[in-house]
Amino acid sequence: MHTLDVLTPGGNYPIHIGRGRLDSLAQVIPADATAVAVVTNVTVSALYGPQVRAALAATGKPLHWIELADGEDTKTWQTLNQIFDALLAAALDRKAVLVALGGGVIGDMCGFAAACYMRGVRFIQVPTTLLAQVDSSVGGKTAINHPLGKNMIGAFYQPQAVEIDPAVLATLPAREISAGLAETIKYGMIADARFFDWCEANVQALRQLDETAITYAVQRSCQIKAQVVSQDERETGLRAILNFGHTFAHAIESGLGYGQWLHGEAVGCGMVLAAQLSVQVCGLDPAVAGRIRDLVAAIGCPVQAPDLGLERWFELMRVDKKTEGSHIRYVLLPQLGQATLQAVDDTLVRPLLAQKIKA
Ligand code: NAD
Ligand code: GLY
Repeated sequence: MHTLDVLTPGGNYPIHIGRGRLDSLAQVIPADATAVAVVTNVTVSALYGPQVRAALAATGKPLHWIELADGEDTKTWQTLNQIFDALLAAALDRKAVLVALGGGVIGDMCGFAAACYMRGVRFIQVPTTLLAQVDSSVGGKTAINHPLGKNMIGAFYQPQAVEIDPAVLATLPAREISAGLAETIKYGMIADARFFDWCEANVQALRQLDETAITYAVQRSCQIKAQVVSQDERETGLRAILNFGHTFAHAIESGLGYGQWLHGEAVGCGMVLAAQLSVQVCGLDPAVAGRIRDLVAAIGCPVQAPDLGLERWFELMRVDKKTEGSHIRYVLLPQLGQATLQAVDDTLVRPLLAQKIKA
């Protein structure tokens, strides 16, 4: 097992990565917990419910099972309220511990519920998608979507622990692996050019979930994310680099309707656009932008932006947490492995989008 530490003002906690973590969940349930409530969805519950129930039975604590519908379009107030309904119906107190068992949708919603229930109860992240293992389970961003903007309602709220078991990836559909790889290769682009080279060289092993390759990729991703979050928990500056490609991606997701493109697919395409913009605005070598495009394609994510209508693109991109006043700010790459946040005038982005979107 590999352990990494996340150190933030909002709390310090370990990330444990290794086969068998799912069977060891009882180890991270605090001794003073009065009950454990697992928040999951129908898909993950069917696959891993029995194993997780058996693992948590070892705590001897009352176990509550909150099973939600599946899908990005369920990341709403209504679903969040179902969690509160279940917690209140079970009369769970402030010492109850929530367990987020699922992908980023479950992790973000369970974390937000934990932040709000009785003004805050403890929770543990058990990410079961590659995307959640390399990104969303770490760092304490929790949220739901709003019809007008992605992840616009939420809180920073850190988990007590992140338990990553690579074995659960075996049941992930190929499309979800590609989506998770988009956030994985992002770390190379923004923070570690050598990791980007490594991802290029190992892309087939990653897509096939070769255990050595995928475990290394999850570890390196979590290490970079933990370092960034430990320096800037609340995104006052540095943390924004984790949003490389996301200004475009969030517009794609809300513009097409949540769930049409997977989050990771939108991020993949968004990074291709952001790399191209970096060539124009901050001198990124066009050959590097080409490598980024090729790697996004090689992991199986779309590189062609959807046609949302040019004006609509800008309307959607303006609803972004990085926007200041009316200025859309983009994460850009002056060079591979280095990122910066910069406002870019619409007049510079317009021709790029016009050229890139499908006719
Ligand atoms: P997801 O949670 O919808 O999971 C993808 C699909 O895989 C779902 O159908 C799910 O039921 C299924 N699934 C989960 N685990 C499985 C398994 N082991 N085997 C088979 N199927 C499984 O999507 P996601 O890609 O994990 O997460 C995307 C979400 O994460 C978005 O809402 C995004 O905004 C959010 N996100 C948050 C952060 C953050 O820092 N909080 C970072 C990145 C993304
Ligand atoms: N995924 C972006 C962040 O955690 O800040």
